[in-house]
Amino acid sequence: MNPPSLLTPDALPVITIDGPSASGKGTVAERVAAVLGFHFLDSGALYRLTALSAMKNGVALDDEARVAELASALPAVFRDGAVWLLNEDVSEAIRAEAVGEGASKVAALPAVRAALLDRQRAYRQAPGLVADGRDMGTVIFPDAVAKVFLTASAEARAERRYKQLIDKGNSASLSALVADMQARDARDTARLVAPLKPAPDALFLDTTSMGVESAVQAVLDHYASCEPRNKL
Ligand code: DC
Repeated sequence: MNPPSLLTPDALPVITIDGPSASGKGTVAERVAAVLGFHFLDSGALYRLTALSAMKNGVALDDEARVAELASALPAVFRDGAVWLLNEDVSEAIRAEAVGEGASKVAALPAVRAALLDRQRAYRQAPGLVADGRDMGTVIFPDAVAKVFLTASAEARAERRYKQLIDKGNSASLSALVADMQARDARDTARLVAPLKPAPDALFLDTTSMGVESAVQAVLDHYASCEPRNKL
């Protein structure tokens, strides 16, 4: 076994967790990273930040060149669980439904995806990384040691999002959330570049009737069972 400091970034272990919105993959990925002491990449946040940045700068979400320019120079900082854009704490703002919708739109633009590629790969640092997104196992880290595709029914995901919104004191409509969820899934799945789809070697985990702890354990078990390729 090599000490982490002797491993080149390409040899460091990566666990990818891909799946549709509100599948719970973010929570699961963050917990798995905490258990293993690994770094954590919330790639969706980068697309959300890009969309927010475009909205703030009056850039149309389908202006591929200008949105890509914003994405490549995103003044974003992740610190102590908060997300900053320049000097503004945007942790709450990037979670708004409108920003998620915008993120899904800018994420369909090839130049935007290309602009965020190196930034995502730079998260691969010792002792390892848990990466959460749509194309982590298929495009960004195809050599990941363990890949998971985490999903749940659109209804279950809409209910989870509904609960989160209500708990935060927002109003929400469950039927509207189910419709939004289905529309976003359709756009993320149908796009030409890096569509949402399981990597051929991913473990398929349906969490419709599974709690967070069981899902975390299933990912840890899967990691433990994977070939020791790139694993510490
Ligand atoms: O995971 P999320 O809901 O924060 O992601 C927001 C949007 O960003 C999602 O609708 C699709 C896009 N996305 C992507 O295309 N590729 C990723 N790796 C992560 C997110």
